[in-house]
Amino acid sequence: MKGLQYATLVASAITGALAAPAPAPTAAPEGPIPARAAAAACATPVTLSGNPFTGRTIYANKEYSKEVIAAAASMTDSALAAKASKVADVGTFLWIDTRARISVVEENLKDVACNQIAAFVIYDLPGRDCAAKASNGELAAGDLATYKSEYIDPIVAIFKKYPNTAIALVIEPDSLPNLVTNKDLQTCKDSADGYKQGVAYALKQLNLPNIAMYIDAGHGGWLGWNDNLKPGANMLAQVYKDAGSPKQVRGISTNVAGWNAFDLSPGEFSKATDAQWNKCQNEKIFVDTFSPLLKSAGMPGQAIIDTGRNAVTGLRKEWGDWCNVNGAGFGVRPTTSTGDSLVDSFVWVKPGGESDGTSDTGATRYDSFCGKEDAFKPAPEAGTWNQAYFEMLLKNAKPAF
Ligand code: BGC
Repeated sequence: MKGLQYATLVASAITGALAAPAPAPTAAPEGPIPARAAAAACATPVTLSGNPFTGRTIYANKEYSKEVIAAAASMTDSALAAKASKVADVGTFLWIDTRARISVVEENLKDVACNQIAAFVIYDLPGRDCAAKASNGELAAGDLATYKSEYIDPIVAIFKKYPNTAIALVIEPDSLPNLVTNKDLQTCKDSADGYKQGVAYALKQLNLPNIAMYIDAGHGGWLGWNDNLKPGANMLAQVYKDAGSPKQVRGISTNVAGWNAFDLSPGEFSKATDAQWNKCQNEKIFVDTFSPLLKSAGMPGQAIIDTGRNAVTGLRKEWGDWCNVNGAGFGVRPTTSTGDSLVDSFVWVKPGGESDGTSDTGATRYDSFCGKEDAFKPAPEAGTWNQAYFEMLLKNAKPAF
């Protein structure tokens, strides 16, 4: 609705400009123009209902743009550099992966225009990444108090200052899926209460009219196994209900930082010996299967799917290989043209070029998945820039840049 209204306004502004000559430009105002005013934020509060991406493009945040512009500048191949700079315009999610990272939220929010939506990942649960090592976080398992008061609360305070700005959030990738499939690991047992209460707290506090939330649901090769589908849907729905069924939860995110194709048929792993136990061989089937289960468990089931790095298939030895897959390429750009009414948008959640984990076997956060045969090496710590990997994604992009 908002988007349509905006489109109408723009159209009439253009018509007006064609009908009468544009007025002579007035002298530039003195001093810096506040970025927020220059970017034409909405004049009135935003209330999101329905698909929040309709009529809005995802804001290309400065953090990723800076990384990409620097990457392009360091290239000697000018044709590749020209392609690289186009990546800086793609709207991606900004990961708030530490308390310190909250400091960049506001400078990004203030530049979001009325026909855009800002996108962030909430990612700092106590005992984070309990079934792996590469993304272990700053808060110890059980430290829910710090998560609430020093992470969620300050973020909420900033978001409350921008009621006229549309915001999409991915909530805590991998956390609840880990509680479904890795619940026997001691680290995940230690994290379990903090994850459930932390996610419920986040959903409750972030439930503002201008925000749309998507709780992470892993991917088809994770919660898509026949035995995981119902427990997965029940886990997410339970936490959603614990939070008081917040109105602004729209559904789920899938394939975050993942590699699965959207609708490749037969699916990439459909010839595997265990394929009979998983009927969700691509992300489309996963969403179409999982969503009704969520709904019957009492939670909304719209989805966004990360297509940032899924252009090339046939690279992984095993479906569960998640670290810096070698040979990958940038996938379909963010769009609401998904061909599936359950899928609100294809999105780029993982900023392509940022590592999934270090390949340095001596590092504290070294995870053996990052040393596997199909993982790109060398790779730096999770979240840090890997120029060679970025160039590979760019060269293998489908569609090409
Ligand atoms: C890392 C985060 C990073 C994110 C996006 C995760 O794997 O743990 O630190 O912000 O990826 O690159």
